[in-house]
Amino acid sequence: MARFPFPIPFGWYQVAFPHEVAAGEVKPLRYFGRDLVLWRDDGGDAHVQDAICPHLGAHLGYGGSVAADHIACPFHGWEFDGAGACVDIPYSDRVNRKAKLHTYPVLERNGVLLAWYHPFDAPPAWDVPVVDGIGEPEFSDFMTSEFTVKSALQEMAENTVDLAHFRFVHGTDEVAVVEAYELEGPFNTMLSAQKYVTPKGVVDGRIDVHGYGPGVSTTHFSGIIDALLFATSTPIDDETVHARFNFTVRRKPDGSVPRLAEYFVAMINHQMHEDIPIWEHKQHLAVPALADTDGPIMMFRRFFSQFYAEDDTMASAN
Ligand code: FES
Ligand SMILES: [Fe+2]
Repeated sequence: MARFPFPIPFGWYQVAFPHEVAAGEVKPLRYFGRDLVLWRDDGGDAHVQDAICPHLGAHLGYGGSVAADHIACPFHGWEFDGAGACVDIPYSDRVNRKAKLHTYPVLERNGVLLAWYHPFDAPPAWDVPVVDGIGEPEFSDFMTSEFTVKSALQEMAENTVDLAHFRFVHGTDEVAVVEAYELEGPFNTMLSAQKYVTPKGVVDGRIDVHGYGPGVSTTHFSGIIDALLFATSTPIDDETVHARFNFTVRRKPDGSVPRLAEYFVAMINHQMHEDIPIWEHKQHLAVPALADTDGPIMMFRRFFSQFYAEDDTMASAN
């Protein structure tokens, strides 16, 4: 029986870093419970498609090759374009118009490669904005940590609004004071004030989180450091998540990276390792017994439920 009562939510998800696939290269991926192929055409555009060739089922990610702006199957050489159409069968004068590769919209932005997943192939319903700082010379390169977690995306995302767990799981005495928690369409914002205890005394800081759908968020830290965590969570299947924490920090005037950055990365990774055993063993309770100071958990769940698609194609398909 499935551990979670929800399907894979739709949204933009990181499937790779841009440097993982050079022009002319092909890479197999496994996300959304599907076999996928990532390839970059000779012009530099990245493509994400279902990997199983509609001819006789070969996996295009293992031995497939790029020919200009087509991907060629390793089994019998059929070629498909970036929109998934069969454009050449090398041993036939005619193409097979029914042979199509499902193609995912792709965004290459903020130092990551994103694909849009929707279970019934609806087009992207929002955009992931360009985030200030990422890739700019005054900010460091990404320091990236990756995690594979046996949980569902919603269960992990619920952490942000679960204020009480910070003390018990993470041992933080100074819990951030939430100033605003706003939900607007697929976007969520949590603005908070945070006190940092340093050898020089207590320093006021901020932690401001912006979410862009279920798979992408930014966390800005300020006060003792000016840093940004560009976090992505991508479902491998409906009970496994691939999380990537991409951390960038404002460089010092001499161009070097503040020593404090290492501490922040270690702290964030440590917190993740504290959360993971809880997530991997907890159960989803649809009707939890809550305390009145628990944080906006049910509000979060109502917000998140918008990312579960209803199959309204079934009626029209029959
Ligand atoms: S299986 Fe791909 S060309 Fe035959
Ligand atoms: Fe946590």
